[in-house]
Amino acid sequence: MRIPLIAGNWKMNTTVSEAVTLVNELRPGLDTIQNVDKVICPPFVSLAKVKELLQKSTTRLGAQNLYFEEKGAYTGEVSSLMLAELCEFVIIGHSERRQYFNETDPIINKKVKAALKAGLKPILCVGEKLTENEAGRTESIVTGQLELALAGVDNIDGLTAAYEPIWAIGTGKAASGKQANDVIALIRWVIGRLYGEKTAQATRILYGGSVTATNTAEFLNQPEIDGALVGGASLKADQFLSIVRQTAEIRDLFTR
Ligand code: 13P
Repeated sequence: MRIPLIAGNWKMNTTVSEAVTLVNELRPGLDTIQNVDKVICPPFVSLAKVKELLQKSTTRLGAQNLYFEEKGAYTGEVSSLMLAELCEFVIIGHSERRQYFNETDPIINKKVKAALKAGLKPILCVGEKLTENEAGRTESIVTGQLELALAGVDNIDGLTAAYEPIWAIGTGKAASGKQANDVIALIRWVIGRLYGEKTAQATRILYGGSVTATNTAEFLNQPEIDGALVGGASLKADQFLSIVRQTAEIRDLFTR
């Protein structure tokens, strides 16, 4: 049985003091919820402070990106070694990185390798554009992204995958539970083909794209969906808490 995971991707939101306020709002409620892995991913500049605030908390910390070299003359970049002291998870290959920062599949592949080597747990994002979706290319795009991101990676223990259709991100137009479940089933199948059935069954795969407290149940009631990667709604404490709480309740029913 895979433990569900809800991750909040704060993107480029919150100053350090705003991050402190949000963590203080979230922490008491999140700590009462069990059987769900809760991860928040604030901006780099807040990681050290948030790490302090989460001492003795069951809420875990992630970063939103890394650079694939461990150190050196790469002005402005942050490496896996730096992050490994601060957090446990790292989002890799988010569509906003692909779109605005020209991250290609080979770059994402290097980032996945760097993260795993440093003992970080990657949350690897894949997903198709609207035009690709409309052209019926979702399966081939997602499969290709996955294969290239994982090329030469022998062991994906600790890796979480996230299906984030680009047309659903920040648009208020989430995929349907069934649509997301079908693509996530495909992702699991591809992982099975690459790493074997045992790994496929053990790997968590999330849905992301306009997840809110209102549609959480639609996704978490699907058998293949192991949680959510939440953007906008993760910046509102009541919304994020409700998403995590509903996830715990739904999984409780599943296991009973
Ligand atoms: P929204 O939840 O704001 O659509 O963002 C999703 C996302 O990109 C999470 O990584």
